Amino acid sequence: MDAPLIDPFARAITYLRVSVTDRCDFRCTYCMSEHMQFLPKRELLTLEELERMCAAFVRLGVRKLRITGGEPLVRRNIMSFFEGMSQYLGGGLDELTLTTNGSQLERFAQPLRDCGVRRVNVSLDTLDPAKFRAITRWGALDKVRRGIEAAQAAGLRVKINTVALKGFNESELFDLVEWCRAGDMDLTFIEVMPMGDMGDGEPDGTGGTLRLDQYWPLEDLRARLAERYTLADLAHRTGGPARYVRLEETGQQVGFITPLTHNFCESCNRVRMTCTGQLFMCLGQEDEADLRAPLRASADDGPLEDAIRAAIARKPKGHDFDYSRQEVSGRMSRHMSHTGG
Ligand code: GTP
Ligand code: 5AD
Ligand code: SF4
Repeated sequence: MDAPLIDPFARAITYLRVSVTDRCDFRCTYCMSEHMQFLPKRELLTLEELERMCAAFVRLGVRKLRITGGEPLVRRNIMSFFEGMSQYLGGGLDELTLTTNGSQLERFAQPLRDCGVRRVNVSLDTLDPAKFRAITRWGALDKVRRGIEAAQAAGLRVKINTVALKGFNESELFDLVEWCRAGDMDLTFIEVMPMGDMGDGEPDGTGGTLRLDQYWPLEDLRARLAERYTLADLAHRTGGPARYVRLEETGQQVGFITPLTHNFCESCNRVRMTCTGQLFMCLGQEDEADLRAPLRASADDGPLEDAIRAAIARKPKGHDFDYSRQEVSGRMSRHMSHTGG
C-alpha cells in the first residue's frame, strides 16, 4: 500500500462516503426541495469510474466504504458496482456498507448480502404512516418496513437513523426505541443540520421545508430517555461519529450524532465524494476538490492519487454549523442529498 492519507491535523483518513447518485425516490423535507433539479447523466461518473475512484482510495488506506446518495439503490445497475467493490473486502477494505431510505431493500437485500455487505443504515424518522408520507413527501412506510424485514431475513444487521425533529417525532421517542428493541435493531438519533432550504414559516409539525424551530438538541432527547431508562455510556465506536449508550433495562444500544451540541470534528476520519467526483473534505464546509478531471485525464492513477493527496492536505479542522434563534449562520446552501449526509 502507498503512504496513508493523513490530514494537516494528524487525522488518518480511513473512511470514504460515496454518493453514487443525487436522485432519490423520496423528497425528505430537511434534505431536498420538492422540485429538485437533478444532474444531467453526462455529469455523473460511470460505475466503472466510481469503482476506479474507490479503488484508489483503498490503495491510499481507506478501510471503510459507505455508499450513499440521494438513494443509492435507485442508481441503475448499482449491484454491478457493489460486486466490483466486494473484491476489495479483505484486501484493504474492512467494511462495505450503505445508508439507504429502505424503499428498494426488498429487492436488493439478498444481492447486497451476497456482495459482502453485513449491515445497512436505514433512515426512518417516524412510525406513523401519515407523518412518514409528510416528512418524506413521497415515501410509503409499509414498503420501507418490508425492506427492513427483507434485510434482516437476508442476514443484514440494521441500524435505524432518525433525525430528531422537535414537534415532529418528539412524541414518538419511546415508540421508536421500543420498536427497535422488539426488532433487534440499533438506533441512532441525528441532530438536524442546517442545509438546503430553510423555511421560515410557522411550524406545522410535518415539515414543509426544514425550519429553525425543528432543531431538537440531543441533550434534551437524552434527558427524556433517561427519565425512563438507565443510560450507560459505551466507549465503543463504529468508525462513524455516533456515541453510544446502552439502555440497561433492555440491553439495547442507542447512538447519538451531535454535530451541533457536541462537535466530533477532532476525531474526523472521513471524506465524501459526490457522484460527479467532487471530494468534500468536510460535510459542513464548501471547499471541494475535483477528482473527475484527473481521473479522466489519464488511464494511469498517478494524477488521481496526487489530486487526492492534495485534497486531504486541505481538510479543514471542522464545520461551521451554527443555529441561532434569529437566523441560521453557518448554513449550507448545498442540499444534504448532494453529499449523502
Ligand atoms: P456507522 O458506520 O453506522 O457508524 O455509520 P455513520 O454514522 O458514519 O453513517 P450514517 O450514514 O449512518 O451517518 C448518519 C449521519 O450522521 C449522516 O448521514 C450525517 O447526517 C451524520 N454524519 C456522519 N458523518 C458526519 C460528519 O463527519 N459530520 C457531520 N456533521 N455529520 C456527519
Ligand atoms: N440533518 C441531519 N441529517 C440529515 N439527513 C439528511 N438531511 C439531514 C439534515 N439536514 C440524514 C438522513 C439520513 C442520512 C443520510 O442523512 O436522514 O439518515
Ligand atoms: Fe432521499 Fe435520504 Fe434525502 Fe430523504 S434524506 S430525500 S431518503 S436522500
